[in-house]
Amino acid sequence: MTLTWSRPSPDRDPGRFAGGMRYLVNGEVRDWKGASMEVHSPVYQPDGRGGLAKRVLGPCALLDAGVAKQAMEGAVKAYDSGRGKWPTASVTERIRHVETFLDRMEARRLEVARLLCWEVAKPWADALREFDRTVAYGRDTVSALKELDRASSRFTLDSGFFAQIRRSPFGVALCMGPYNYPLNEMYTTLLPALVMGNTVVAKLPRLGMLCNLPLLDAFAESFPPDVVSILTGEGSTVVTPLVESGAVDILAFIGSSKVANLIIQKHPRPNRLRTILGLGTKNPGIVLADADLKSTVDECVRGTMTFNGQRCTALGLIFVQRRIADAFAEHFSAAVASLRSGMPYEDGVTLTPLPEEGQVQRMSRLVEDAVAKGARVLNPGGGASDRTWFHPAVVYPVDRRMDLWTHETFGPVVPIAVFDDPREPLEWLAASPYGQQAALFGRDPAVVGPLVDALVNQVSRVNLNSQCQRGPDTFPFTGRKDSAEGTLSVTDALRVFSIRTLVASKADPSNTEVVQAVLRERTSRFLTTDYLF
Ligand code: G3H
Repeated sequence: MTLTWSRPSPDRDPGRFAGGMRYLVNGEVRDWKGASMEVHSPVYQPDGRGGLAKRVLGPCALLDAGVAKQAMEGAVKAYDSGRGKWPTASVTERIRHVETFLDRMEARRLEVARLLCWEVAKPWADALREFDRTVAYGRDTVSALKELDRASSRFTLDSGFFAQIRRSPFGVALCMGPYNYPLNEMYTTLLPALVMGNTVVAKLPRLGMLCNLPLLDAFAESFPPDVVSILTGEGSTVVTPLVESGAVDILAFIGSSKVANLIIQKHPRPNRLRTILGLGTKNPGIVLADADLKSTVDECVRGTMTFNGQRCTALGLIFVQRRIADAFAEHFSAAVASLRSGMPYEDGVTLTPLPEEGQVQRMSRLVEDAVAKGARVLNPGGGASDRTWFHPAVVYPVDRRMDLWTHETFGPVVPIAVFDDPREPLEWLAASPYGQQAALFGRDPAVVGPLVDALVNQVSRVNLNSQCQRGPDTFPFTGRKDSAEGTLSVTDALRVFSIRTLVASKADPSNTEVVQAVLRERTSRFLTTDYLF
């Protein structure tokens, strides 16, 4: 089974992107004259000689350790041990900068979405959704900070002490996002880090660099110099010197735990480093015999096939109770077969090429291993491949001997396993290194209730009769065990990138007088009851 490698309509074609050699350091968007790489889309197109070739999107700068050093020195200088203009700016001022950025960002919507669509083969509608969701996240972050600031303006009186308790920044944040959400997962850490008063160095993901670059001017025009730097290049060249400098105070990283650990180990003062990490997952779906078959299949298809299964919240193994296992597998397989495959810029497409050939090979190996050990591929053409295209495979029944039982798939291979007693998926989960979410499908409260009670102590979100997902973005997004460190959401991110800090004093008349004078004369931005919202 192959795909038709077609050509796009002109309005969804990014052309050759010329901005890939630009980077932001010391408040300036600069042109890089050094090493670069050609960025290839996973999309193949006719090469004019009767063959196919990957579409070249344009060059991208491979910055060096010298630029990384400049970015870090700038961030340290702008923070200035907490005395810099940015960390001491009022919340109102910082919000103004973020809002300016969001306005400018919105003006680049189509350009960013085109690159996002082509760079990682994200379906066009999903690329637009990711952009809009990111801007909305930024605006919601601003509203949440206004609320937080309002609440923190009050003084607390206890046991003869008074205090004003607020949140202060940590210092320099290093933000790194993943290829599957190269925009959204970058800005959901970068924007809260900035608005809380940290200075930020961002390293863009290896796949998904270009789609961020149309926003460099918006950053440069919206924030003071050195408050934010945006770098591209190889992690080993750029990230290593940043971390080895010892000046990173907080690391926000979404990706594999292997890479996260390599980065963290390079920090010379590990206790100084705070971490907010989104790592590996293998979220189980647990389908009880009384689940509504149609809606369960629909949710599980969305939970496994959205962006070809390349979501950290994807369902990684679906357990189905024996009585309905065959029926579920058959309906699920038919539903997957009905999904539309094609090029990411085509309307109505769900399944698209994978970012790299290596991903396709990894999917093939997982399927071959399961088939060699007795599982079957249920859907027609499942597991067929052509260059970066991998036709999704529904693999059934999967058991503990197969790699699919434990390996994170992060792609369009769906393992289905059979269980008799609901304790079986719970035991699987207890043995798993992961603990992000689970999806539980069923109706009998006598079974569902106790299962919920067991699951909530193994994962961080139980989705009842619905797929696993991050949103709405006001909900806490986190995980246990090897899946995450720290919690993100619009409000949680503000807390993650700041630390509770207070000014306290014995409530005697002379202290009261000093504090009242500071408030009256507005000599402090921390010790203040002003809020302008
Ligand atoms: O890859 C992890 C994403 O944050 C998941 O987000 O559940 O909205 O697709 P999503």
